[in-house]
Amino acid sequence: MITIFAIESSCDETAASVCRDGAILSNIISSQKVHEQYGGVVPELASRAHLESIVPVTDTALKKAGVTLADIDAFAFTQSPGLIGALLVGAEFTKSLALAFDKPLIAVHHMQAHVLANLIRPVDHNNQIPKFPFLCLTVSGGHTQIVVCESPLQQKIIGQTLDDAAGEAFDKSARILDLPYPGGPLIDKYARQGNASRYKFPEPKIEGLNFSFSGLKTVFLYFIRDEKMKNEKFVEENMDDICASIQARIVSILLNKLKKASVQTGIKEVCIAGGVSANSGLRNSFAALGEKEGWNTYIPAFEYCTDNAAMIAITAYYKYLDSRFEDLSVVPSARTA
Ligand code: KG4
Ligand code: ZN
Repeated sequence: MITIFAIESSCDETAASVCRDGAILSNIISSQKVHEQYGGVVPELASRAHLESIVPVTDTALKKAGVTLADIDAFAFTQSPGLIGALLVGAEFTKSLALAFDKPLIAVHHMQAHVLANLIRPVDHNNQIPKFPFLCLTVSGGHTQIVVCESPLQQKIIGQTLDDAAGEAFDKSARILDLPYPGGPLIDKYARQGNASRYKFPEPKIEGLNFSFSGLKTVFLYFIRDEKMKNEKFVEENMDDICASIQARIVSILLNKLKKASVQTGIKEVCIAGGVSANSGLRNSFAALGEKEGWNTYIPAFEYCTDNAAMIAITAYYKYLDSRFEDLSVVPSARTA
């Protein structure tokens, strides 16, 4: 029996999880509210909030899992990418535990972990997880990638964004609509009642499997500005249709590239992951596309899509099986190593 304890602290979620032999026993997330009033994550405030939450979150995760620190076989943390101050809190805390209990230390890459959230066995999906090799569209607040996952620890990026991430496209569109941060979930909420074909936004022409969202953001900004000049209540009167239309375009940009990646690689085991994979429009369109294309599609359970420590724990479990341990000199890195 291998029991792993993992911490995630790369951005504005303080999270802890316990995993035993690849099954998640607890997944505790404390979302920092302090950033809402600033319209984005304030790094210094994130580090301070991690310091406050990390011990209570750890306690809750251990209790929920029914284990104590003495039962843990290895301690894992998010090493990169992320906000450096935020990563440091998680890294130093986890190192202290590994040192105190004289157990292996495992460093995890946050984006790899988003992909491997798909290996957490779902309770309601006939226990199916993707077979290797699989494709994964990873869409978060900081990244947009298509990867080929050959095995848990072998992932190759075959497409990525040249500018904004998909989550930023959602959050920046929400900001243009004067919605609070993070705006992605709010766009999702309004879009459910809206008519997605009411307003047309162009699809950028980007070569290969790469993405670009900055052009769409500019088009959207000018569209809203111009409509508000004609009718200052334009946004409030048409919020549902505006959100449905911009969401539909972001989703179609993502899925058209994913379809292209499947054709190019011949891989029909296809997953999505990352915070934006919580988006109901993306989830529905992805499932529909998969059915049309004859794919086997996989989406992590909702709680494993946005930042969480269960995905760090499952990745650490595979690293443990491969004896990929670090010594105490390991340091976090803000950028993708
Ligand atoms: O993976 P994640 O939790 O953190 C990063 O690693 O960045 O992703 C956060 C991003 C934010 O941009 C947030 O707006 C977006 O995921 N997001 C959503 C939804 N839930 C979270 N975007 C659209 N629809 C949602 N339901
Ligand atoms: Zn993330």
